[in-house]
Amino acid sequence: MYVCMCHGITDRQIREAVCDGVGSMRELCAELGVASSCGRCAQYAKQLLDETLTDTQVPQLTAA
Ligand code: FES
Repeated sequence: MYVCMCHGITDRQIREAVCDGVGSMRELCAELGVASSCGRCAQYAKQLLDETLTDTQVPQLTAA
């Protein structure tokens, strides 16, 4: 699904970028151009970024 119509960026591209190390909207903008024109995609792109970061976090082991 297209997230950023201005740059033709899909949710898949955003998730892949996060998996490749992108960790902030600033980095996402620099990498893909998301939210760098009209900005309408910024809110959903941030949501995708946060969800993907949460999904890719390695569970912390706790010493008992
Ligand atoms: S839709 Fe992403 S900058 Fe316009």
